[in-house]
Amino acid sequence: MTALVLFGGGGDLAMRMLLPSLYFLDHDGLLPEGLKIIGAARSEETPAEYIARVRQSVEAKARADKAWDETVWARMEARLDYMAVDATSAESLKPLRDKVGQGSVTSFLAVSPSLYARIVTAMRAAGLAEPEDRVVLEKPVGRDLESFRAIDDAVADAFSEAQVFRIDHYLGKETVQNLLALRFGNTIFEPLWNNLSIDHVQITVGETVGVGDRWPYYDEYGALRDMLQNHMLQLLCLVAMEPPSDLDADSVRNEKVKVLRSLRPITHEDAERVTVRGQYESGTSGGKPVPSYDEERGLDSDTETFVAIRADIDNWRWAGVPFFMRTGKRLAEKRTEIVIQFKPVPHSIFGHDDRGDVQANRMVIELQPEEDISLSVMNKRPGLDQRMQLQPIQMSLSWGVGGKDARPPRRRIAYERLLLDAMAGDSTLFVRRDEAEKAWEWVDQVSQAWADAGTKPHDYAPGSWGPDEADMLLARTGRDWNTTDA
Ligand code: BG6
Repeated sequence: MTALVLFGGGGDLAMRMLLPSLYFLDHDGLLPEGLKIIGAARSEETPAEYIARVRQSVEAKARADKAWDETVWARMEARLDYMAVDATSAESLKPLRDKVGQGSVTSFLAVSPSLYARIVTAMRAAGLAEPEDRVVLEKPVGRDLESFRAIDDAVADAFSEAQVFRIDHYLGKETVQNLLALRFGNTIFEPLWNNLSIDHVQITVGETVGVGDRWPYYDEYGALRDMLQNHMLQLLCLVAMEPPSDLDADSVRNEKVKVLRSLRPITHEDAERVTVRGQYESGTSGGKPVPSYDEERGLDSDTETFVAIRADIDNWRWAGVPFFMRTGKRLAEKRTEIVIQFKPVPHSIFGHDDRGDVQANRMVIELQPEEDISLSVMNKRPGLDQRMQLQPIQMSLSWGVGGKDARPPRRRIAYERLLLDAMAGDSTLFVRRDEAEKAWEWVDQVSQAWADAGTKPHDYAPGSWGPDEADMLLARTGRDWNTTDA
């Protein structure tokens, strides 16, 4: 492996995530020997100016994590270079190919997806799509199945599927991989992991930030396409998939595709019952006044900043187990979690004729703000009460007896794992073409139903958990969303 080229190397993703990730990898001695890192973008800056900007961004992040080390930076600086290019022109890319020299190139496209097709075509003509080269595509690829296919066809003309790494950064998160370890590295959960023991599953990705000046992108996509089509369906797949025969990329992805294929289609009639969309109003968030989405956008928009959906998986394992997903901006908390809600005991021997004092077991797989997997189990409250008193206790399954104090000193950026894997050619944690297609197909039905119904998103207050209709989605089935203090 010779080089990693970051197209859009001066942009937000590269500066905030990719270059700090590369620094941390270098810090831990994980970057391939001799790896060159080349920023490539339109802006006419010199390598020295670029490297100074990279240092600023990397140093701030590394200092915040107490991992800044001048020796590591000197090593990274020696790898770095910059070239001003028009990535859509083969002529402009040829000098870049020459600079890279012999050896394989991994190109990361951290640019607007509207340029992907033209860039890969130019890369092919410039010799940056040789059989040993790879390309990493950041989401979103397309905004529906049709536009995804148009872009991906151009990618497929230049690269074989094994050379293409479609990023979903959620798959690089430590707890997501820990979910695989939990499910397939233990025997005790598997017999319970089905509709006999599980009542329902909830997936929540809450963010407190608003859309702000990202609206030109966001207004085209909305929460459904920005978060649910990718991150949330990926989480759903990992919870619901059958055990793969090994961790090979295709073994895992075959199982995920089967889940996506089993998602019950959402018809126009269903859409009103099983989907909710919302948009934040003005109000206060974190004690500060905040504008509504429409005010940020500058005109009235029907784009949803919140979505909640009930998904049903029509197969033997999951028949009758709803998967509720919700995500939104300007919600009460920055919190990402998967809740596995087990069924209640069939009969309580502790109370009289209600089961109120016996809470059903609940596994919470928390990705943010903490990374943890915990299981609530009922326990006897110590004491000599005449009638035995129960209490739920939380067991941490991630940090063991050390509890949360046993966690590693630094939380890794999800891109660290993914950059390493892409450079090593391991696509287990990347999205295969058919997966992305199936996810778009399912999500397109929802966006189409919304468009045809001509309805508007429900308003919700900043700092809430979305519109009341999202609570009703569960309440109608006798359930409610997990709350942090539960
Ligand atoms: C991105 C979305 O993919 O994920 C953003 O485009 C969102 O809108 C972000 O804020 C959330 O990522 P994380 O890792 O902070 O949960």
